[in-house]
Amino acid sequence: MNLIQFEEIDSTNNYAKAHAGEFFEPTIVIAEKQTSGRGRLGRQFFSPSESGLYMSLVFSKDSINNFNPAKYTATAAVAVARVLDDFFKINTKIKWVNDIYLNGKKICGILTEGTTGTKGTDLVVIVGVGVNLSTNNFPAEITNKAGSITNKNIGKTEKTELARKIAAECIRIFDSNEQTQIALNEYRERSFLIGKKVTVHPVIDNEATDYTAVVKEITDDAKLIVQLPDNSTKALDSGEISIRMSC
Ligand code: BTN
Repeated sequence: MNLIQFEEIDSTNNYAKAHAGEFFEPTIVIAEKQTSGRGRLGRQFFSPSESGLYMSLVFSKDSINNFNPAKYTATAAVAVARVLDDFFKINTKIKWVNDIYLNGKKICGILTEGTTGTKGTDLVVIVGVGVNLSTNNFPAEITNKAGSITNKNIGKTEKTELARKIAAECIRIFDSNEQTQIALNEYRERSFLIGKKVTVHPVIDNEATDYTAVVKEITDDAKLIVQLPDNSTKALDSGEISIRMSC
């Protein structure tokens, strides 16, 4: 696996997108600090220097068997959760769609994107992973929600090892239909929204207002099936909504 390292960059996902035609084998882009780290739904991802892992795994359609991008969102979360659990001896959970939680706080976010290579034909997948390893002093707006794994400083060598393990586990799962199915089952087991009452906040349609629903299931392509108070069901797409737990 190729590795490209930066001390500082705007966003490892941006770099991967801008150079999408240049990756002929799965590649890891990693940075010590991001100045414009991006999250889902156009949000920022707080990426201060040294205390976090900021990486993008990039690969093209040609370098993987069983190419199935719709399943990468959920299965990448399982890959990251497994590696973090093993590396730090912790027990993480997943909040739909692919946020990783430890002790009720978000410690990791994943942003999966697709683009095309220079020829405009070859599909390139970018799995961007941001982990708060020892991050603190979070911005006020996320301070209640965000957490980190440890208060020990994790050095560059360890971080690179962690990035390689995450990338290898992603590829191992993505590459095999059987491993994908196993990971999807684990995704549901680790998901703490199933069976819970949630508040759905539509972010695309400005006219729509929040509503409450009960989470019934998560499909293989990471749609959230919810039941509304009138007993009807809806399949929610991660690009359109955000979810809060109702009390
Ligand atoms: C989220 O929390 O909504 C997803 C956050 C994803 C952050 C990672 S950090 C490495 C990569 N580069 C980015 O700009 N974003 C992802």
